[in-house]
Amino acid sequence: MERSRRSVLAGGAAALCSLATSTAFAQAARPQSGEEMTRPDIAYEGSKARKKLSIVNLLELEPEAKKILPDGGFQYIASGSGANWTREENMRAFQDIRIEPQSLSGVSKVDLKTTILGSELSMPIFIPPMGSHGLAHVMKEEAASRAAHAVGTLMTTSTQSNLSMEEIASFNPGPKWFQIYVPSDRGYLRELCQRAKAAGYSAVAPTIDNNYAYPREENIRNSFRPPASLGKGNMPRSIADPKEAARVFDERKRDLNWDDLDFIKKEFGGPVIVKGVMSPKVADMACKRGMDAVYVSNHGGRAFDGVEASIHALPRIAESVAGRLPIIFDSGVRRGTDVFKALALGATVVGCGRPVFFGVALGGAEGAQSVLEYMRDNLTLVMRLAGTARVADINKDYLVPMRRT
Ligand SMILES: Cc1cc2nc3c(=O)[nH]c(=O)nc-3n(C[C@H](O)[C@H](O)[C@H](O)COP(=O)(O)O)c2cc1C
Repeated sequence: MERSRRSVLAGGAAALCSLATSTAFAQAARPQSGEEMTRPDIAYEGSKARKKLSIVNLLELEPEAKKILPDGGFQYIASGSGANWTREENMRAFQDIRIEPQSLSGVSKVDLKTTILGSELSMPIFIPPMGSHGLAHVMKEEAASRAAHAVGTLMTTSTQSNLSMEEIASFNPGPKWFQIYVPSDRGYLRELCQRAKAAGYSAVAPTIDNNYAYPREENIRNSFRPPASLGKGNMPRSIADPKEAARVFDERKRDLNWDDLDFIKKEFGGPVIVKGVMSPKVADMACKRGMDAVYVSNHGGRAFDGVEASIHALPRIAESVAGRLPIIFDSGVRRGTDVFKALALGATVVGCGRPVFFGVALGGAEGAQSVLEYMRDNLTLVMRLAGTARVADINKDYLVPMRRT
């Protein structure tokens, strides 16, 4: 972005900054919704770039995106919560796991095809739910949705998407999931389930780790929340008064429990994925309560800072699930080796979050597609080197036995 536009946008944010400074402590003390609440009062425009990206390393997309996005938006996307410990630990922890290649296995052709909850994907890599894609690009969620379809995988639409779940579905006729931030209003929750069903979403994923949001310090300092001007596509449609609709949309159910998930299962009438599982006991309960998949994730370190890396939780959760349900995984995945390690430890599919967001910023639909293709090609190479021809063949035998930490 040219300097002039950056400064105009920065000016808007600066006007809010003094407010941020004076109220920072008060805001931090109150429970914040963080991820989801909107500010109506900031001018904001994401990138307009449309191009394929030549990617050497996914981590390098972040500083490139920083150069072109408004500061508040960039930090909203990149940051974690609290001290950012869990965010960093997610990536670092992959280094604790080592691949043990089975050389001379004669593998050259590898097949990445995977089936999850009845949907066939071209690869075991998908796009996790991320709100407000308009922070990255003027195409909003259209970019990533088209990219997912182009490579034959799925995207998860967030409750917090700027475009409506119906619009997003129209860009990807293939399998797709809808993530639910469970509202306290049961009528609105029913509406979300029914809309997702009618729009062709093949599963819904209630998120269980963010009903109280741990403060995101960067956003508080910047007084930044995704601007309402970018749109909120999944606002309640049955409530005519816009103020009341916004209130119901923002009021998340704080005392979230298994009855809420049962309600979702009944209203959606299809597979329910429990997103944000970090405990073997919760995973076991998901199996016993008739849920359809366990999604191991700590929200990319954006929810409860201080919880362990998702990749460290995965083996214990896989042991507890013991094959009863498929396991979905995300948090900190940046390389084919990370995907391979998660698959070996029990995941069926693996999500890659922020790099896709930065790909959208740097190149729109083509940029996001480049990220997915990079991950696909990188995983292909890793499987060849490890000696695995099919995704289903990847298991713990391809890892050096782990030390207990
Ligand atoms: C900008 C942004 C917005 C997100 N919004 C949501 C959301 O609306 N719902 C949700 O369940 N998770 C949300 N997440 C978390 C992702 O689904 C995913 O768990 C996380 O990004 C994975 O970690 P990674 O970014 O390190 O790959 C968001 C993540 C980012 C980066």
